[in-house]
Amino acid sequence: MPKTGGAVQPGCDQTWNAEDYARQAGYVAELGRPVVDLLQPKEGERILDLGCGDGRLSVALAKTGATILACDSSSDMVARARATGVEALVLDAQNFLFEEEFDAVFSNAALHWMKDSVSVIEGVHRALLPDGRFVAEFGGFGNIAAITAAITAVLNAHGFDGAGLNPWFFPTADAYRKLLENAGFRVKRIDLFSRPTFLPQGMKSWLDMFVQEFFQPVGDLSEKLKGEVVAALHPVLRDDGGYWYADHMRLRFAAFKD
Ligand code: BEZ
Repeated sequence: MPKTGGAVQPGCDQTWNAEDYARQAGYVAELGRPVVDLLQPKEGERILDLGCGDGRLSVALAKTGATILACDSSSDMVARARATGVEALVLDAQNFLFEEEFDAVFSNAALHWMKDSVSVIEGVHRALLPDGRFVAEFGGFGNIAAITAAITAVLNAHGFDGAGLNPWFFPTADAYRKLLENAGFRVKRIDLFSRPTFLPQGMKSWLDMFVQEFFQPVGDLSEKLKGEVVAALHPVLRDDGGYWYADHMRLRFAAFKD
């Protein structure tokens, strides 16, 4: 019988430390700039930033003259976002109740943590004004496939339920388009593309930052098992100069409330 351990809610408070995130994952916001360009925020608009992290992109959005409400399920991240001067709220995007308040909802690198995608999309639809837009990018089908396969294999080999501990949702473009249309969105564009991403701190640091749910039941074995994951990934994701890359696939879309 595989070991599963206690459940940790995806993206919940105890799994994120904003200082570590800023040190390890500052590149995430930089890579989100094209999504800001796709959104084209305008002066006077009211925009919800869903899963704002440390608020770096909320600040970029606010520079256009739009009014931003940033939100994240992590109070540590929200504190960090507030420190930048942005208005920010702790909020579970799978369960929120804004009614026709926003011209746009924006999200970067967050929706893959929210497995209840139907509730997220319905909540966004409800929150938008008529003709409002939902513009986002997140991990799509095949995202970090090598990393996920290595983690799953190592956990299974040690008697844990690797697949059962997976906290992520990486849909195909077709599947996500249908979810958007079912909720009443008109999809203007939706693209799945590969974006290998340089990991400035290497693979072990990336695992320490992002795979806590997988390793939560592992306890003291955690360092040993992560070492095995890193070793398995050497031939796949480390180049001949010793630099590590994550095998990211991005799903980027723009959809309008009908
Ligand atoms: C991503 O941005 O695709 C991602 C980052 C951390 C964990 C899982 C996915």
